[in-house]
Amino acid sequence: MAFKIGLLGLGTVGTGTVQILRDPVQRHPLVNDLEIYRVGVRSPAKARAVDLPAHLITTDLDAIVTDPAVDIVVEVIGGLEPARSLILKAIAHGKHVVTANKAAIARYGAEIFTAAEQAGVYVLLEAAVGGGIPVIEPLKQSLCANRLHTVTGIINGTTNYILTRMQNEGGDFADILADAQRLGYAEADPTADVDGLDAADKIAILASLAFGGRIKLSEVHCEGIRQVSAADIAYADKLGFVIKLLAVAKRDARSLLDESAQLQVRVHPTLVPKSHPLASVNDVNNAILIEGDPIGQVMFFGPGAGAGPTASAVVADILNIAAILKVERGSAARSDGTPLLDPLLACSHQDYYAIAPIAALVTRFYARFLTGDFPGVIGKLGTCFGNHDVSLESIVQTGLRDGLAEIVVVTHHVREGNFRTALDEIRAMESVSQIASTLRVL
Ligand code: HSE
Repeated sequence: MAFKIGLLGLGTVGTGTVQILRDPVQRHPLVNDLEIYRVGVRSPAKARAVDLPAHLITTDLDAIVTDPAVDIVVEVIGGLEPARSLILKAIAHGKHVVTANKAAIARYGAEIFTAAEQAGVYVLLEAAVGGGIPVIEPLKQSLCANRLHTVTGIINGTTNYILTRMQNEGGDFADILADAQRLGYAEADPTADVDGLDAADKIAILASLAFGGRIKLSEVHCEGIRQVSAADIAYADKLGFVIKLLAVAKRDARSLLDESAQLQVRVHPTLVPKSHPLASVNDVNNAILIEGDPIGQVMFFGPGAGAGPTASAVVADILNIAAILKVERGSAARSDGTPLLDPLLACSHQDYYAIAPIAALVTRFYARFLTGDFPGVIGKLGTCFGNHDVSLESIVQTGLRDGLAEIVVVTHHVREGNFRTALDEIRAMESVSQIASTLRVL
């Protein structure tokens, strides 16, 4: 039996979600059990990137969240209202909810999760922070054995794009913001991004999960990047730093066991040492560094926005709920007494894949040879590689080692079997003393 999805919103994320759900090939088999049952939009006549049957589309979003047939409501309309009211109504009607709405969760999380708790439904929000980066589920599940003390994130792609360009081009904030708006990297009204408000919503959510308590958004210290100048970036660079908009949630490590310990939750431009793992997170990418005991440091990196990445997180949440529903419904129906396992946690495949032999690999190679230092040696190497279809990207003689010429070769992409056959012939050449090393090149 399919699980019926009521999708609220068919903008960027909604469209990405529909595209995944309608193309299940090579995804988890549970995707086949999901049915797009209703899609709520504001303007049904609008041209869309996905072509859905007209009977699925409605402007009556209330009817979706109250429809007894809907199992999971997916809220991707964004903004505060009517998103908040629709989520609450869906919960009141016993629907599980998946949302990408960081603004609503950061402000109304207490109200929404209290209602969900009472109704016995899940509200999942992987897409709300870090777009396609899995960070909510790791905080809830994979890292739950840890005593976490710090979450440090680059969690706003727009500001990271602007700061990266300021760093690379030496330009001023206002000019690069204007260009970013022209190119579609920044919104016409950039306030939520450049003033740090979007990052504040997201770090409030991460802090709440990492430390297991509610966060009042008004208490999150928030500074944006408008005051960061080209001069600051240039000085920081000389001193060995890059400037990043960091969102930080921190519990003093010494007071980890003290329940009254206060948190720091803040967003501000920060000088980051170039050697720090967050320093190389550039352009629109996001990353979240989580620190705790005993894990130490773990960093999640990837695309923080966009249709595909955000929809990837939305569909993962839908599948998590569908897996729970499947177990609930399946175990009741099972006649042989064998419990039905959660299809996302259990191993659900039996067939072996054929693995390609290494000789069939197509890659680049590095090789270092020690040879006699006389005329024609490099020519012989080149000819031998050429005879076996191994094209060389570069060949250099780096000098002498122990009286032998040291020749280093990097190939283009070649078939490993051909490269090995050429090496066997080269090894047998009188002028070649040793193939000192061979390595694959990415
Ligand atoms: N406006 C956000 C950003 C993307 O620039 O990262 C959605 O969260």
